[in-house]
Amino acid sequence: VEPDVRRELEARVGSAHVLHGDTTEGPATDWTGRYRGRTPAIVRPGTVDEVAAVLAVCDAAGVPVVPQGGNTGLVGGGVPLAGEVVLSLRRLERLGPVDQVTRQVTAGSGVTLSRLQAHAAEQGLRYAVDLAARETATVGGTVATNAGGSRFLRFGGTREQLRGIEAVLADGRVVRHLGGLEKDNTGYHLPSLLCGSEGTLAVVTAARLALVPEPTHHVTALLGCPGVAAALEVGVSLRERLPELEAAELFLDEGLRLVVDRLALDDPFPDRWPAYLLVECADDRDPTERLAAAIEATSVGDVAVGVAAGRREALWRYREGHTEAMNLLGIPHKLDVTLPLGQLAAFAEEVVRRVRDLDADAHCWLFGHVLDGNLHVNVTGLTPGDNRVDEAVLTLVADHGGSISAEHGIGTAKKAWLHLSRSPVELDVFRAVKRALDPRGILNPNVLLP
Ligand code: MLT
Ligand code: ZN
Repeated sequence: VEPDVRRELEARVGSAHVLHGDTTEGPATDWTGRYRGRTPAIVRPGTVDEVAAVLAVCDAAGVPVVPQGGNTGLVGGGVPLAGEVVLSLRRLERLGPVDQVTRQVTAGSGVTLSRLQAHAAEQGLRYAVDLAARETATVGGTVATNAGGSRFLRFGGTREQLRGIEAVLADGRVVRHLGGLEKDNTGYHLPSLLCGSEGTLAVVTAARLALVPEPTHHVTALLGCPGVAAALEVGVSLRERLPELEAAELFLDEGLRLVVDRLALDDPFPDRWPAYLLVECADDRDPTERLAAAIEATSVGDVAVGVAAGRREALWRYREGHTEAMNLLGIPHKLDVTLPLGQLAAFAEEVVRRVRDLDADAHCWLFGHVLDGNLHVNVTGLTPGDNRVDEAVLTLVADHGGSISAEHGIGTAKKAWLHLSRSPVELDVFRAVKRALDPRGILNPNVLLP
């Protein structure tokens, strides 16, 4: 950026909050290491008014901006790949009081998911969205990407929790609608529009979020299954019998081996199973007996149950450890996709074959939120810039009637394939909305839209 633009940015947020040089390297690279950018400056506003002032300066100067939260997104949507200014929202850490009557809270964009969860828990409530990156993921980032996570099955994703939003438009004007009315049928629903817009339409600065009661009893079970199709069948059967089921996560034996090995864990079972299903129930009546009876009615091989918090966490570690363990193998290609449930098992078989045929060095790992039809296809052994596998896997997904992004978003990683999931007319509408809200195209200009 020009020296006068930098001086103006420093004047708006204080020179201590405009970073450049070596300190920008970490935030310019995504969590996986696949997307490495560079930036002339990281700007860290401390209030919504400062965000507005920064955007007004950038818009007037035509300086492109990449909004950033915890920087643990997985599609290269929050890093400055074309030399943009990084707008870090981490200092917007204000967390309002929990309203016990409406069961809502207003949280600043920089509040981490774990802090929000702890805040709700102090009041006997919880925030329904949960994911492995809870310590780093922020409210702003999860709203901007419409993050899904492991309890989507019961509560939906981030969009379903949104009761209001505060955001700054490209020109610095503030859109604020945080009253939290449950019924509010007054035209275009801007929270829905901005949620999942990946920083391309406005910069989210705060959100009004719904909370849900924290049940008194939780039970987690890891089930050894004879294959993906069987695990899916077990999941469907448990969902039919157990309204309190809130997670159903799949992983395979190879993934378990990797996690156990890399994270130095004990094996969950003496025997190995081709597939594993991790399930969790939560209710005010102890669901353990009902879960046991429901499992009894299926073809599950081995069962490990956790009721105490430590034991439950240990079981979750086998699933949540996948992301970390996979990155220790090298930089993965991460392809988060949804399949119609009826196609999921066939796809799981075929994708492994396709990846193997594509390149003998490529290795395909599968895990995910199986009852949402959501598989995380991770491919290791290829260079970060080799897009053949992205092309092959995403095309296969489209051929099976799926979506190229279930919960991570499009970012820069998938924009070349957005046409596989969205029609030309839909893409026209996307572009028209983008032009209307960000006419100079300064907001995250290199993500989402091809
Ligand atoms: C997960 O489900 O673990 C997250 O989406 C992260 C990932 O896909 O690696
Ligand atoms: Zn996931």
